[in-house]
Amino acid sequence: MSNGMKFRYPVDGNDFTRAGEISSKVKKQLKQLGLPPEVIRRVAIIMYEAEINMVIHANGGTIDVEITPEQIRLVFSDTGPGIPDIEKAMQEGFSTASHEVRELGFGAGMGLPNMKKNSDEMKIDTRIGVGTIMDLIVKI
Ligand SMILES: Nc1ncnc2c1ncn2[C@@H]1O[C@H](COP(=O)(O)OP(=O)(O)O)[C@@H](O)[C@H]1O
Ligand SMILES: [Mg+2]
Repeated sequence: MSNGMKFRYPVDGNDFTRAGEISSKVKKQLKQLGLPPEVIRRVAIIMYEAEINMVIHANGGTIDVEITPEQIRLVFSDTGPGIPDIEKAMQEGFSTASHEVRELGFGAGMGLPNMKKNSDEMKIDTRIGVGTIMDLIVKI
């Protein structure tokens, strides 16, 4: 892991209009690094969903990206409300998004299932009232 590249991005929780910007930026960077298109596609989906979740459910947070020749590790940390029932949250279509958030086009309840589908490993560490850390690996 010592030859890995590390990047950290803060996610603004107040600005819905900018949600998804970091994902697009990282996608461009990965293209420049010449990573396989399939790997980039998977990372972009995970990053977009997690970034949106941090904005709509957790008032922002931090994204850490670590790239090595073997894998891309994505860690999403927030100090939001936490997830009371992870099993339920992982179900397709489950969403606690508000009416306002749905009107903006978010809240289909497909984010976590798609993050799971597009990763090789996914760990969720969440504590009510403290926050959530999602740690995902995409193998190259
Ligand atoms: N970072 C987070 N902090 C708190 N709750 C979250 C977070 N990410 C997801 N959740 C919870 O898990 C549910 C399912 O997430 P997801 O599949 O992305 O659906 P959606 O975002 O469309 O509601 C959310 O509705 C929310 O209750
Ligand atoms: Mg979501």
